Amino acid sequence: MNTETLLELRDVRVRFPVGANWRGKVKSYVHALNGLDLAIRRGETLGIVGESGCGKSTLAQLMMGLLAPSGGEILRARSPGSWYGSGMQMVFQDPQSSLDPRLPVWRTITEPVYVQYHNTVRERRALADTLAEQVGIRKGYLDRLPHEFSGGQRQRLSIARALSSEPDIVVLDEPTSALDVSVQAQILNLLVELQRRRQLTYVLISHNVSVVRHMSDRVAVMYLGQIVELGDSQQVLNHPKHPYTRLLLDSVPRADRPLGEAGYGVEELPDNRQLPQGCFFLDRCPYAGDGCQMPQRLEAKIPGFEVRCHRV
Ligand SMILES: Nc1ncnc2c1ncn2[C@@H]1O[C@H](COP(=O)(O)OP(=O)(O)O)[C@@H](O)[C@H]1O
Ligand code: SF4
Ligand SMILES: [Mg+2]
Repeated sequence: MNTETLLELRDVRVRFPVGANWRGKVKSYVHALNGLDLAIRRGETLGIVGESGCGKSTLAQLMMGLLAPSGGEILRARSPGSWYGSGMQMVFQDPQSSLDPRLPVWRTITEPVYVQYHNTVRERRALADTLAEQVGIRKGYLDRLPHEFSGGQRQRLSIARALSSEPDIVVLDEPTSALDVSVQAQILNLLVELQRRRQLTYVLISHNVSVVRHMSDRVAVMYLGQIVELGDSQQVLNHPKHPYTRLLLDSVPRADRPLGEAGYGVEELPDNRQLPQGCFFLDRCPYAGDGCQMPQRLEAKIPGFEVRCHRV
């Protein structure tokens, strides 16, 4: 593993059993990740984009160590141990899920550190003050409960919580999707500022191409649990090569809509219980032809730019 690589996934697979019969024998599997190769580099923002159901959240949980792969391997620069000590934290779409409704927020946002170091109340309060200042929450509000804050403020608090243990990598799973359009840009700008201040590495997961475009150095495009295109974000988003990426970007309204409104109306994903034999995109691809019935590999077309299509 390269010294600048913090986390690497090699041919990683995840499948979930569904519909066990009365003997508990599994009848079928949902194939959520199907041979994923990816390396996260120190200091970058890696955007991960794809339609709902393509495996983005499964990938996030896998990176966090909350889920074990069914196949392949995961290499980490820091040994996992407890996941608090692994150098990774996560920000979820719904800030509610990381804030305890019964606890004053100063406790919740310092909890990851407390679990690790058992610091005193005085130390926790001091840390809470620092974190609050960095995410734009008034110190005087830290004794309040989560429900006393707005959605945007709650997401600021869950970002504070994620940063408290000084992670190297922060996985952001749809961090602004549950927020009002008017506050989405503020949260994204806060994330950019925090990254600069703290030299963070981000994995930014979103179904929203505008969000990924705004933030990312590199972009990975996912389809049916695989990466179909990976490279510099300008290259991928301005000169897409894979037919699926083109379809995805064409269906994003070009007009300068506010962030978050640019959903895309691509059809339903194909069934991930029965994986296709050849190229996963075959039945939707306008360029399909000879050789597309063979499984496709993610291949470097130019240095630093990989595509899973033999016809590119
Ligand atoms: N715990 C689970 N059990 C069964 N299927 C699951 C589970 N988690 C996710 N899936 C399925 O795996 C696929 C990928 O889901 P997910 O990673 O949540 O996609 P995304 O975040 O891109 O919308 C979907 O088909 C989803 O229904
Ligand atoms: S391999 Fe064939 S079917 Fe698959 S994306 Fe390329 S051209 Fe389309
Ligand atoms: Mg998801």
